[in-house]
This record gives sequence, C-alpha cells and structure tokens, in this order.
Amino acid sequence: MLIFAEIQLYFCKYIIYMKTKTVWFCKECGNESPKWMGRCPACGEWNTMVEETVATGKKPGGAAAVSVPGSGHKPMPLSHIDSSVENRISLNNGEVDRILGGGLVEGSLVLIGGEPGIGKSTLSLQIPLHCPDLKTLYVTGEESAKQVKLRATRIGGDDSNCMIYSETLMENIIAEARAMMPDLMVVDSVQTMFSQSVESSPGSVTQIKETAAMLLRFAKETGVPVILIGHITKEGSIAGPKILEHIVDVVLQFEGDNGGTYRLLRSIKNRFGSTSELAVFEMTGKGLREVSNPSEMLIPMHEEGLSGVAVSAMLDGTRPFLIEVQSLVSTAAYGTPQRSATGFDVRRLNMLLAVLEKRAGFKLSVKDVFLNMAGGLKVSDPACDLAVIAAVLSSNFDFAIPSDVCFAGEIGLSGEVRPVAQTDRRVIEAARLGFKKIFVSSFSSLEGVDTQNIEVVKVADVPALCRSLFKN
Ligand code: TYD
Ligand code: MG
Repeated sequence: MLIFAEIQLYFCKYIIYMKTKTVWFCKECGNESPKWMGRCPACGEWNTMVEETVATGKKPGGAAAVSVPGSGHKPMPLSHIDSSVENRISLNNGEVDRILGGGLVEGSLVLIGGEPGIGKSTLSLQIPLHCPDLKTLYVTGEESAKQVKLRATRIGGDDSNCMIYSETLMENIIAEARAMMPDLMVVDSVQTMFSQSVESSPGSVTQIKETAAMLLRFAKETGVPVILIGHITKEGSIAGPKILEHIVDVVLQFEGDNGGTYRLLRSIKNRFGSTSELAVFEMTGKGLREVSNPSEMLIPMHEEGLSGVAVSAMLDGTRPFLIEVQSLVSTAAYGTPQRSATGFDVRRLNMLLAVLEKRAGFKLSVKDVFLNMAGGLKVSDPACDLAVIAAVLSSNFDFAIPSDVCFAGEIGLSGEVRPVAQTDRRVIEAARLGFKKIFVSSFSSLEGVDTQNIEVVKVADVPALCRSLFKN
C-alpha cells in the first residue's frame, strides 16, 4: 500500500514536471535563457538573470502575440497605404498632448513609468476627469475603488463618464473592455495584473510581458488607446518597464525628486512624435498643474546676484528654457577633494574642472566642488558647460554674476567655447524672459536674430570668458 502511494506521488511529480519548466529571464532586457548565466548575452548586464516557472507547450510571455494572429491582412504596396487619417484624441492637457506629439493616437499603447509615489496614478486619473467627453475605463489593481474616488474628489473635474473597475485578472479586464468599448482605457499598474494562461506570479517578467501583449492586441484590434502604468525602482527592478519598451508605442517617464513639487515627464520613445520632449508639472493639493512656461519656474527667485549661481539657456527636446546652475567651491577638508553633482554628469564636471585648471590656471585641485541643477532637473545638454564653468568661477572667487546674465555654450578639451544647436532660439527665449546679456560661442551665427533687447557676448575660450566676466 505504501509502495503504491509512493508510485502515485512519483507520477504526480512527473506530471507537474511535464507541465511546467524553469527558465531564466534577464530583468533588464527580458532575454530568456534555459540556464542561469552571470552575464546576460543579449544586453551584457551582470547578475540580472532571475528564475521563473513557465508552462510548457507555449512560448513564455506570449510575446509572439505582438502581431495580431488571423487579422486577415495581406501584404500591400506602401503607396497604397492611406496615411492621412491618424486620429488623435486631445487630452485637454497641453503638456501631455505636446509630449505625445499632438494628442493620443487611436489604438496606441502608452506606458507611463516612474518611481512609486511620483504621480503616475494622479496624472492618469486626472486625464479622464478633465476630458468628460471621453468614455473611460479606469482599471485599478493597486488601489480600491474607494481610494480612487477619494483621489478623484481631490483632483476635481467631471467624473460622470469615468468607469472605475477594480480587477487584476487580465481575461476579465479584456472581456469587460470589449463589452464596454471605451474611448480610453487606463490600467494601473502592469505589475499587479496577471493572466491565467501564464503560471508565474503577478509582477514577474512573463506576466508583465503577457499583460502588455494582451493590452496591445486589444488596442490594435479595437482602436482603443490604452495608458499603462509601470513602476520602476532606482535599481531598475525585476518588474521594471524596461522589458516593455519594445512592445509599447510610447514610453513616458516621470522624473523629479519626491520631496520637491516639480515633476518632469520625459518622452523616451514615441512612434508618433519626437522623443526627448519634456513636460513640466507641479504637484499641488489638487493634482498636477501644467507648467507651460518652465523657464519662469526654474530661474532664480532672488533679485540680487549670488556668488556660485549662473543661468544656462538650455534646450530639452524642442523647447528652450532657462535653468539655474548652482555651485559651491570650498577648501578641501581631506586630502582628496570631493566632486559631487546633482542633475549633471560628474565625469563631465571633472572634465570641465580639468580644463579650468589646465587652460585657465585655476588651482581647483585643492578644492571641494559641489554642483546642483535647480528644480531637480537632470541635464544632458552640453550647452550647460559654460554656465557650469561660470558658476564654479563665481563661487571660487566669491564674485556674483548679475542675475540678468545667462550662458549657452559647450566647452572643448582645449578650453575653446563651441557653438551649440539652435543658439538663436536660446537667445530669443533669454531676451523674452528679460535677460540683458547672454554669453555664447564666438563661432555661433546669429544672423537674422533680433538682439535689440539683449547684449550677445561672444567668447572664444575660457580665458576670454574670465576676462569678460571679471571686467565688470
Ligand atoms: P501617485 O499618483 O499615487 O503616485 P504613483 O501612482 O506614481 O505611485 O502620487 C502620490 C503622491 O502625490 C502622494 O505622495 C500624494 C501626492 N498628491 C498630491 O500632492 N496632490 C494630489 O492632489 C494628489 C492626488 C496626490
Ligand atoms: Mg499609483
């Protein structure tokens, strides 16, 4: 009898073994491997493989479902394809519409990523509340319907056309969405949703891929635009939206420091518009307020010039705006001086300091240098170099740069000031905001730009910048 029970147990185990198998996924790029590897062969990242159980007989993740099976489409010449009708839905939110390239495209899948608590749920609830004409299905897997209601009351707006559906099973969600056929669907969040057809738990790589693939199929078949929310942790978590980036049409990423009130929405991928666009919001007691002119929010709030502060006319995406660069240079307390930068690449800061030391003779190697971009912004525009150098010099000599002066120029390794893209637009924006002087490269051409209200100072290299700065 005991032997019989053991044989039965063995067979049960065998059947379970037959139905599922263990595979390894890279949590950065989603690459699949039958065995553990220290380094992912696809993206080259170390120690990113995680173990998951998947059902056999079916390709894990259902990623093949990206193309709609049995859609009845036939190959056709490119010239026969009608591209004139790309229906865009305005979301009544200038910043979001602009970052999407002029509104939400029908049938598109938009991923909004960001760290927890940054404002993803607030923005995605605010959109339907401010567009009462759009019939919206808001699927919440994170918060209860009551919590969503409380948030909606806080945000305000018209909620008559917004249906809240508290569900996490994808099969039910798709069935409900097909029955309702909304104008817009929001799914909060991809990490909480799960499909019965996949063995692993919600939040795993396979579940996330399957959820996204099901939503993509639904969006493409019905033309309903879907906004999908995904968390990303500082370490690029296992359930990070990174693995979804190639599946979805648009990836928007929320940035900004949690303590501050500014929130930046950056377009990382957009099949229907330009990337590297930036939308700025302010988190208020009543949801997110659009900051349609970021320059006015980010430039100095003080009248008098302070030492260590310089304003850079930068460009993010297609929009020029001005940002305050703050620097503090102090005598190094320890043998090795500290260099620290917030919102700026610390390697670039080191390079700029080396240029200052070598080309302009400033002994900064015995000084600690701290750099900060105001407003929690992460800056990658090389045009900020000139303002960084000016801020460092200003702090080092305790010399205030007047608050109506700004800078736009890239610094080369030999200390030359190089021209930057769209200098004319930066000059126009600075003049519009009441700046009286802008430092640019002497190689910039400013033909046809109205410089009546602003003095354009052209500098060729770092020593020339010092001479012009300290002259007055
Ligand atoms: P939330 O949208 O829940 O973040 P996420 O979905 O990205 O995790 O935003 C949460 C934060 O926003 C929370 O700390 C409270 C704050 N908040 C406001 O300051 N004002 C508001 O009107 C709302 C709705 C939220
Ligand atoms: Mg949320």
